Amino acid sequence: MKTTFSVIKADVGGWPGHAAVHPSLKEIADKKLREAEENGLLKDFYVASCGDDLELIMTHDRGVDSTEIHSLAWDTFCEATEKAKELGLYGAGQDLLSDAFSGNIRGMGPGIAEMEFTERKAEPVIVFMMDKTEPGAFNLPVFKIFADPFNTAGLIIDPSIHDGFIFEVWDIQEHKHVFMETPEEMYDLLALIGAKSRFVIKRVFPKKTSKLVAKEPVAVISTEKLYQIAGEYIGKDDPVGVIRAQSGLPALGEVLEGFSLPYLVSGWMRGSHNGPLMPVSLKNARCTRFDGPPRVVALGFQLKNGKLTQPVDLFDDPAFDSIRLEAQHITDYMRRHGPFEPHRLPLQDMEYTTLPKVMKKLQRRFKKIK
Ligand code: 13P
Ligand code: 13P
Ligand code: MG
Ligand code: MG
Repeated sequence: MKTTFSVIKADVGGWPGHAAVHPSLKEIADKKLREAEENGLLKDFYVASCGDDLELIMTHDRGVDSTEIHSLAWDTFCEATEKAKELGLYGAGQDLLSDAFSGNIRGMGPGIAEMEFTERKAEPVIVFMMDKTEPGAFNLPVFKIFADPFNTAGLIIDPSIHDGFIFEVWDIQEHKHVFMETPEEMYDLLALIGAKSRFVIKRVFPKKTSKLVAKEPVAVISTEKLYQIAGEYIGKDDPVGVIRAQSGLPALGEVLEGFSLPYLVSGWMRGSHNGPLMPVSLKNARCTRFDGPPRVVALGFQLKNGKLTQPVDLFDDPAFDSIRLEAQHITDYMRRHGPFEPHRLPLQDMEYTTLPKVMKKLQRRFKKIK
């Protein structure tokens, strides 16, 4: 049977500043989604948060881009925004860019990762939620999971994944996409996705030789670019991703291993700094130091007939302590750069800048160099 797995998220108000989501917003989301489950629209759901982002994890049979599902998410975010206003939470309604819902939530502010697929006998699904960074932050981990044999042993020793995978990459500046196969096109793929503010992995598919159903995604990442939508800064587009695992796919541990490098991603303070991506538990998904550092949470479910088990908080594990410690050392080191690149982002990638004003003020004092 086919199930649609939808994760839709938005920042509708921070508690305090941009640190976390207030429990009363999660209560509203819980109530709205429970009603939808009782009405038969949803098969199951789970409400979570990462930093100041409210995350709706939903299963149903309406397919991707369903008006009913998107409008449920939109109404939930609107109701939570009202509560956020009432409580005086920070930046209430930050990610809701329009007053009117027109059938599809895409381009309206929230981030969306959705895929429809045929459930296998046992279907492990992991939801990754990030705060204080951008969709390109998924590029390195997803590449490692599906294409790097030093990460994923199965690419070498498991005949069912030895042929590799197909990556769908979006050029988010030109609004184009391309499908590339690994291992054959690995170097070309890396040439693109290393430029993570422009080229982002949107989906991963099995190859024809796989026993999984062709053309059904095995991973999907949200790729909304808030600043492109709004034309001005209104918060980084903190991304979410959904990855299936095992039986013809990387094992759960190979998927998590993709996050074992706290590599530098952009976002953090004022969406204008590079910092290490730190894997944390749900309880530590609060962005504090310099509004960060950027964080990623992983919730693992088993899916059966559209129903979800309780999640396992996968990074809530001492095995990731050394990675967190490394992220903390990198945080100290990067912070000591203060306003200097590469801690502060290059001019074109900054969400905030005073440079035009500074240049204007100094205009008359700038003299030609002889
Ligand atoms: P304010 O100027 O509203 O304080 O916003 C700055 C900010 O929150 C960026 O992190
Ligand atoms: P969010 O995108 O998570 O709201 O963070 C905004 C910010 O500028 C933090 O400093
Ligand atoms: Mg915020
Ligand atoms: Mg956020």
